[in-house]
Amino acid sequence: MIIDKHASSKRDAAEYALGLVRDGMRLGLGTGATADCFIDGLARRVIDDGLSLSMVATSHRTRTRAEQAGLKLSDLNDLRDLDLTIDGTDEIDIHFNLIKGGGGALLREKIVAQASKEMIVIADQSKRVESLGKFPLPIEIDRFGAQATSDMIKSCLHHLGFHECRQEFRRSGDKLVVTDGGHYIIDAELLRIDHPKEVAIQLNQIPGVVETGLFVGICDLAVLGRGNGEVDVIGPNEKARSDV
Ligand code: A5P
Repeated sequence: MIIDKHASSKRDAAEYALGLVRDGMRLGLGTGATADCFIDGLARRVIDDGLSLSMVATSHRTRTRAEQAGLKLSDLNDLRDLDLTIDGTDEIDIHFNLIKGGGGALLREKIVAQASKEMIVIADQSKRVESLGKFPLPIEIDRFGAQATSDMIKSCLHHLGFHECRQEFRRSGDKLVVTDGGHYIIDAELLRIDHPKEVAIQLNQIPGVVETGLFVGICDLAVLGRGNGEVDVIGPNEKARSDV
């Protein structure tokens, strides 16, 4: 059995975020262990407090979790825009830039977050970093010509100064991982990303790149659990959004 030593911190962050949910909201539900804590708590609030919410999932995994908890989900095509997305992260830097996609849901997570007026990240303190990059950057790519796209990513990263960067296709056992959208993921070990916006813009120029796990200017507020029932809430939430 795998024990998550940050489990109580994740729960603390999720509990705090539950207090930000208001009746009638249209919510985006993130993916990962922290988002799962939030979803379970949300189901309790819907049942106990009779909250009426509209919700969209960022992955098949989250949809299944939410439905098993008794929540009824909507399609983003029907709601079109959302009030709030609550999601986990793999890293968050001091400027609120994120690396996401450790769970493979980066594309839908970004679509849902960008369709929301506000995005709140819930995480344990270990996700807080001075600069992004220790966590390998997930890059979602089309399956067509995937090797050629991988070469183009390598060359693009080289031009951006990442000379020793290792990158590999994400696997599960001996099979390549395929995302909910039917794409592959390349994880690139960049170690330190000083200009995440530039890296995101350049990688997105490659035709086979569907999206990167760099979330720049999207997160409005971070709730970081400490594991002792307390959280650090880091704002402000009036930051301008970037179009990356
Ligand atoms: C999913 O693709 C990721 O973006 C997750 O949000 C991230 O991996 C956070 O995971 P935990 O909440 O499990 O730490």
